Amino acid sequence: MWMSLSKYISIFLLLTLSGLFIINILVWKLDLCSLDLRRIHSEDPPPLDRERSFCSHLGKEPSPEEALEERYLLESIAWPETQPWLTSSPLTQTSDPAHSLFAILPAGGRREWHVGDQLEALVLMKDFQGRPKSHGGDFLLARLHSPELEAGVAGHVLDHRNGTYSAIFPLLWEGSVWVDVTLVHPSEAVPVLRRLREEHPDRVLYKSLFRSGILSETTMCNLRLPTNQQPLCNYTDPNTGEPWYCYKPKQLLSCDTRINHFRAGYQKDLITDKEALLFQSGVNLKARIHAMANDSVTVLPKKKEVESSSAKAAPIRTTASGYYFQGSWRGLGGVVIRQFKDTTAITQCLKDKMVYMYGDSTVRQYYEFLTSFLPELREFNLQSPVSTGPFMAVDIPHNILLKYRSHGPPISWTPISISQLRYVANELDGLAGGSKTVVVISIWAHFSTFPVQVYIRRLRHIRRAVVRLLDRAPETVVLVRSANLRAQSLQESLNFSDWFSVQLDEVLKAMFRGLNIFFVDAWEMTLAHHLPHDIHPHPPIIKNMINTILSHICPVKN
Ligand SMILES: *[C@@H]1O[C@H](CO)[C@@H](O)[C@H](O)[C@H]1NC(C)=O
Ligand SMILES: *[C@@H]1O[C@H](CO)[C@@H](O)[C@H](O)[C@H]1NC(C)=O
Ligand SMILES: *[C@@H]1O[C@H](CO)[C@@H](O)[C@H](O)[C@H]1NC(C)=O
Ligand SMILES: *[C@@H]1O[C@H](CO)[C@@H](O)[C@H](O)[C@H]1NC(C)=O
Repeated sequence: MWMSLSKYISIFLLLTLSGLFIINILVWKLDLCSLDLRRIHSEDPPPLDRERSFCSHLGKEPSPEEALEERYLLESIAWPETQPWLTSSPLTQTSDPAHSLFAILPAGGRREWHVGDQLEALVLMKDFQGRPKSHGGDFLLARLHSPELEAGVAGHVLDHRNGTYSAIFPLLWEGSVWVDVTLVHPSEAVPVLRRLREEHPDRVLYKSLFRSGILSETTMCNLRLPTNQQPLCNYTDPNTGEPWYCYKPKQLLSCDTRINHFRAGYQKDLITDKEALLFQSGVNLKARIHAMANDSVTVLPKKKEVESSSAKAAPIRTTASGYYFQGSWRGLGGVVIRQFKDTTAITQCLKDKMVYMYGDSTVRQYYEFLTSFLPELREFNLQSPVSTGPFMAVDIPHNILLKYRSHGPPISWTPISISQLRYVANELDGLAGGSKTVVVISIWAHFSTFPVQVYIRRLRHIRRAVVRLLDRAPETVVLVRSANLRAQSLQESLNFSDWFSVQLDEVLKAMFRGLNIFFVDAWEMTLAHHLPHDIHPHPPIIKNMINTILSHICPVKN
């Protein structure tokens, strides 16, 4: 951790030297804890007090190193500031994918591409009247694919901040390749999402049931609650300091009588009808942008050594972590991804292993996949509720143990018993670890409605616990699964937009970089695949993720 921290510090210092002034402004703007959250919207439901900022309730003050890291992280995910879309401004001036275009640029003046080159597409954003946009901030996704080869790779999108964008792809296979560019949100929708996250971080409603004898009562809970309404029960975790509060029941029920935790709905009507026009499925929400002329090129075999040295080809600056070929995910750099085609190969790999999965339903999918795929892995009935778990499966002949447990609040589900509401960091502290222990963590989906600082703090606690685990048992295999793309309707995007997720994803990858852990890059694995985006990626993607995980547990020996 110290190494990665000193890396952040040096990066931060470098950035500071190159632009102290600009960075200070950015940091100030992003420092939510210093933002005034008092702007009260008339449609706000009354319960939550905005007098106190979200962060004043967030437990312990960060140390100077933590504050520095937080600033660096927030700076690294800063989205271009755009003019908020005023109620008076017409929708016709917002980004319209149907009028926007992209063009594949010639490579070095020639329309000839080879494996090992990169391909660049220039995206020109226009509004509903066909006028070019003059500022950046649109949220675009880009993918390069070859359907007949079942090949695909995520593109890297560069915002030139003037209404044009570059989508850059590494060319990794021969044949015809197609470029896909999708507008997830117009730049004008971003301030709406930002406002929801900053001013309504409590738009998912949580409750707990308190019960003792014949008395029972349900009260509201959250990371923070106003203190001037009603006494609070303080459930701040003594080990990590993660805050959580519920209103104290009005009846004679003590804070100790809290028995469960659940999601009690969402705050509604937080945006105007006009703002809703910025989130029209298929129109300006996850809508395709078309090619100006041709969306496809033919990639020729890799150039011969002699040619490339005389042409002084620039090395590929690929940022992709992997790609699909013939339907299988191949990593770029790192471990070779093996294909675990049958149950015997998987069982052989997992023999004598204890696999602990912690987090949200996106890691539960791995548990479900393995328990349904491996005939000898028998689920032990722990009498847990269907979605919340915990779950456990064993294969006695092969000495395999598989466990799944959800992460702690703000998990947003059907009722989960307080006894099962555990923080991942605390669970990791309870593991001995070792070469037979595998840990898979996925924690992101339930954080999208909160300020990024909340997520950073949670990951910091998990990272510390991972470092402790790897210190006491360096051979432990730790895998971290990143965020993935999901289907977006108007309602869904207001709470769970990919725009929230992309920032969590980048924070997650930055915070665990440099540690001896492995990533399952769910972001790229869902972006590069042709199957529709879904909070729960479809089975072929899960199968590839399982292959990735198993390849790290059982790497090929050279
Ligand atoms: C936008 O910015 C890019 C990069 O700076 C530049 O190459 C391009 O000419 C600009 N385009 C317009 C339309 O201003
Ligand atoms: C809740 O408890 C934690 C730790 O015990 C403490 O630091 C925090 O100040 C308490 N919160 C309130 C609002 O009293
Ligand atoms: C999401 O949030 C909006 C308000 O911001 C709300 O109206 C909607 O019901 C929420 N629920 C879901 C499932 O997306
Ligand atoms: C588009 O480019 C591909 C590959 O270079 C070529 O085969 C195809 O004919 C082109 N299509 C059009 C409409 O120009």
